Amino acid sequence: MSKGKFITIEGGEGSGKTTLIGRLADRIKEKGYEAVTTREPGGSPIAEAIRNVILERSHTKMDGRTEALLYAASRRQHLVEIVVPAIERGAVVLCDRFIDSSLAYQGHARGLGMEAVWEINRFAVDDCMPDLTLFLDLEPEAGLARIEANALREVNRLDLEGLAFHRKVREGYLEVAGRFPERIVTIDAMRSPEFVLEDAWRYLEARLG
Ligand code: TYD
Repeated sequence: MSKGKFITIEGGEGSGKTTLIGRLADRIKEKGYEAVTTREPGGSPIAEAIRNVILERSHTKMDGRTEALLYAASRRQHLVEIVVPAIERGAVVLCDRFIDSSLAYQGHARGLGMEAVWEINRFAVDDCMPDLTLFLDLEPEAGLARIEANALREVNRLDLEGLAFHRKVREGYLEVAGRFPERIVTIDAMRSPEFVLEDAWRYLEARLG
């Protein structure tokens, strides 16, 4: 593998992305590759500054299109500063959320329309799409119950959205997964983390070659 791989992990709140990414990174390192774990929005100083603007709880007046543009701006900066250089040096990049989050959250759940959100993101990513996307699918009720059980979690502006919003996010993800079947694999995240890890690793290992 001369060039690296770009792997994104997607899913609603409480779907277990963070735990999975840590475990996948360990396995990638065991195979002798460099693993870079990162997240959106954020992942570099400029992108983190944009993240703070987006997720600040007091920013209740934020317009939906402003929100979508800020996510796309943060994505662009993170891609150029972190993701592309890592792929160029042969690393496997594991990124917590990417373009599909915008399609599901802003495009579908916020109602901006997937086509409009796809267009601004096409400009932002400039053809740099993931080699593989692991979508951790679970019932929003179960995801929200998991995060509520975590007393240490930070509560951001999007966490304050209700169940109806998170149901729409899931609908959006299912639609996106149907639209990009070669890139996105759907993994049943209602099961225990061990099963999710084994499924995810099977797909990922196949892409490493
Ligand atoms: P974060 O605390 O990173 O959430 P999580 O642990 O669930 O990934 O907050 C990121 C929030 O931003 C999350 O609610 C999803 C949302 N989001 C979008 O709405 N659009 C996007 O394009 C991205 C990347 C995230």
